Amino acid sequence: MNDSSTCNDNNINNYKIIRLKHKSNLHSSEIKAIDYINKFFNQDNFYIEVNPGSVKIYLKKLDMKKLGRLIKEINDTSPFLLKIYRTIKNIKSYVIENNKRVYVDYNREKKVKNRKKKERNRQKYFYARNHNFNVINQPLPEKYINKIICGDSEQILKEIPDNSIDLILTSPPYNFGLDYKDSRDGYYWKSYFSKLFSIFKECIRILKYGGRIIINVQPLFSDYIPTHHLISNFFIKNKMIWKGEILWEKNNYNCKYTAWGSWKSPSSPYLKYTWEFLEIFAKGSLKKKGDKKNIDITGEEFKEWVSARWSIAPVRNMKKYQHPAVFPEELVYRVLKLFSYKGDVILDPFNGTGTTTAVAHRLKRNYLGIDISPDYCNTARGRLNP
Ligand SMILES: C[S@@+](CC[C@H](N)C(=O)[O-])C[C@H]1O[C@@H](n2cnc3c(N)ncnc32)[C@H](O)[C@@H]1O
Repeated sequence: MNDSSTCNDNNINNYKIIRLKHKSNLHSSEIKAIDYINKFFNQDNFYIEVNPGSVKIYLKKLDMKKLGRLIKEINDTSPFLLKIYRTIKNIKSYVIENNKRVYVDYNREKKVKNRKKKERNRQKYFYARNHNFNVINQPLPEKYINKIICGDSEQILKEIPDNSIDLILTSPPYNFGLDYKDSRDGYYWKSYFSKLFSIFKECIRILKYGGRIIINVQPLFSDYIPTHHLISNFFIKNKMIWKGEILWEKNNYNCKYTAWGSWKSPSSPYLKYTWEFLEIFAKGSLKKKGDKKNIDITGEEFKEWVSARWSIAPVRNMKKYQHPAVFPEELVYRVLKLFSYKGDVILDPFNGTGTTTAVAHRLKRNYLGIDISPDYCNTARGRLNP
């Protein structure tokens, strides 16, 4: 769109108004086409007015698909009609209501005056200020790049230099008593958290300034330990910025179908969850630097995935990997495209069967996967070049 040819007089008479100049007079077929389009919409919601030298578009609510269909039907070769369509499509501020984009008044009651100033006064992420993070990032030594390493993460991470990993995505063992090869899962809770936090401390140290750490964690398990809160508190205490959380809706309604706690009694009903969380933290800065040419997320994906409730089915055939808690590839795919650039270094310190490393490799990221089980590490290696 050529800026000089458009003008955006916001919200005049309760419409968003866009003026589009045309260099020469419109062809009579184009004027007819605009008349024809107008007939298909309620003028209170959408209307195109033809004036000498320009058109004015009055926008309140619009079904974009319908507009696209009509333009195609009438005259899809008119560059001006296509320009009208593209100009409207490029407007980013709207909400969707009954398949229509709503351009005015949708957030009136939410408007806050002097928002920036108030935000400064409140001091956003106050808990993560006055940190001692090193701001100088450094490359990860070659011996760790694109490797699956078998061993205890705490020991291996200690050897890795500060500020050398772009993104950490992981799902720690939950301490449920699951049957992993080569490691116990069912420690006294205090020992469990002490070990987990030693590993996470190393994770924070080796993360680049501006890097992200994303932890997949379940909301409740029958010991009444709020693992997701304890983990979040740990990161917050360690000056990481809480960037947000994604609700991973697994839709597994049949889980623990008969675990009611106190059946039909308020004495102690048992709450069930069909979802898990991804808790997202940033080191030092919410913005992650990267080259624009290394962005690989599409506009459609971005729009869909920033709505932070992701409906993704859990992996059904865990037997295939001989592992009880495998990530769905789709989950990793979305995380990596939304939060990292091509060429970034991705670490999973509890890599299991290597879903993180396999998807990172496929998406042209560099990877480092660590797991304590030699069998899982072999599976992870096997998934890199299927
Ligand atoms: C929830 S699973 C991760 C599954 C993985 N996301 C996948 O897609 O296969 C946790 C993993 O942590 C590993 N593990 C447990 N303690 C560890 C430690 N101290 N160091 C490295 N790995 C460990 C287990 O072997 C297990 O594979």
